Amino acid sequence: MKILVVGTGYVGLVTGVCLSDIGHEVTCFDISSEKIDLLKSGRSPIYEPGLEQLMEKNVKANKLFFTSNVQEAYQSVDCIFIAVGTPETRDGSADLTYVEEVALTIAESIKQDTIVVIKSTVPVGTNDYIERLINERTGEGIKVHLVSNPEFLREGSAIKDTFEGSRIVIGSNSQEAGDFIEEIYSPLSIPIVRTDIRSAEMIKYASNAFLATKISFINEVANLCEKTGANVEEVAVGMGFDKRIGNQFLKAGIGFGGSCFPKDTKALISLANEYDSSSYILDAVLKVNDIQKKRLVEKVKDYFIDIQGKKAAILGLAFKPNTNDIREAPSLELIDELLSLGTEVHVYDPIALENVKEIYGDRVYFHHSIDEAIENADMALLVTEWREVKGFPLKKYKELMKRPVVFDGRNVLSPFDAKKEEITYFSIGR
Ligand code: UGA
Repeated sequence: MKILVVGTGYVGLVTGVCLSDIGHEVTCFDISSEKIDLLKSGRSPIYEPGLEQLMEKNVKANKLFFTSNVQEAYQSVDCIFIAVGTPETRDGSADLTYVEEVALTIAESIKQDTIVVIKSTVPVGTNDYIERLINERTGEGIKVHLVSNPEFLREGSAIKDTFEGSRIVIGSNSQEAGDFIEEIYSPLSIPIVRTDIRSAEMIKYASNAFLATKISFINEVANLCEKTGANVEEVAVGMGFDKRIGNQFLKAGIGFGGSCFPKDTKALISLANEYDSSSYILDAVLKVNDIQKKRLVEKVKDYFIDIQGKKAAILGLAFKPNTNDIREAPSLELIDELLSLGTEVHVYDPIALENVKEIYGDRVYFHHSIDEAIENADMALLVTEWREVKGFPLKKYKELMKRPVVFDGRNVLSPFDAKKEEITYFSIGR
């Protein structure tokens, strides 16, 4: 099938590349000609393992194209996937400006009935609204049918998640349009969940908010474990064996970040407010996460009598491993807090240094190795569970630091091993 994907961010680019790989002819469109030039040169504007190789394969096979030219993009396609951003507005609701702009372009450009799929995360009711917006503006006798097809991929494992996802949700009020999209995904052996359009929109928010809830829940339990002498990791293992609970997303740490959980939880709260519905649990999820992001710095303040002028080494900046994304990353809050306390902040990350440099410039010292970052440091703070951070030899903390004091925000080290190496060690909930 001939598919147009609008937006070459995480969701759009990965979707476009993967759809071409399962046999469709896909054009990826973006209004940014710089992004398109980069893509045409074979490079991806986002860091995602395996993506450039898959791009190259499908460009060579003449199944994948990139353009920033509207006429070229919207010409005779079977369906259009909208995958543009829906950022957070000041009041926490989702900003639909980009989706609306695409809708207007579709209305002006299409010359035949077309199926429009919204992949972007949008509040309940958006697909109906966009369908009306387009149909009121199309040429004589031309209609679109909207299909909601939310995305569940994770950054860092986006390709695997697309090919081996847990489910594909297709929400439509037209059986035919839904069947058409089901057909597009038929080469993948992933369970298909067919729903009405509003339920599909809600599935996306409810899924992200539920995962965020699990994290805040275990983090709150972790804090109680610390006070009562229990070990949150053992507690999570014991809980996870119950299939009704499950063993995933029970990893305690310094809170969730990224472009999705914080934004989508806020957007769901905003939706609840709009409909005069309660959001007690969701409010608590965000509140616990805000507190959790400060846990490491609280531990630092408890340990050091005077922190002014101390040298802190932050290991890991990205909101999670395998990405250079620092949106809502706990590391940023930590840097802000440490700077405000007069600490000298040194940072290391295998791929996110540049993004952090854009924010802090020369207020922070940037390092390309852990050795360099912790040299002569008074404390090391482990913030992202990169392989390098997890596997860093413990004896080196003792060799290189002024004093080996480690605050582990992701529970990557063993307290037993740390003690054996005579490291002063603090972690979360253990
Ligand atoms: C999340 C969802 O997992 C995807 O299903 C969804 O498609 C995506 O949002 C989206 O809406 O676009 P992502 O934000 O890429 O994916 O990252 P996750 O791997 O889910 O991690 C999110 C945050 O939770 C990270 O900061 C991570 O460190 C934290 N986390 C995760 C924990 O603190 N504990 C855990 O047990 C799991």
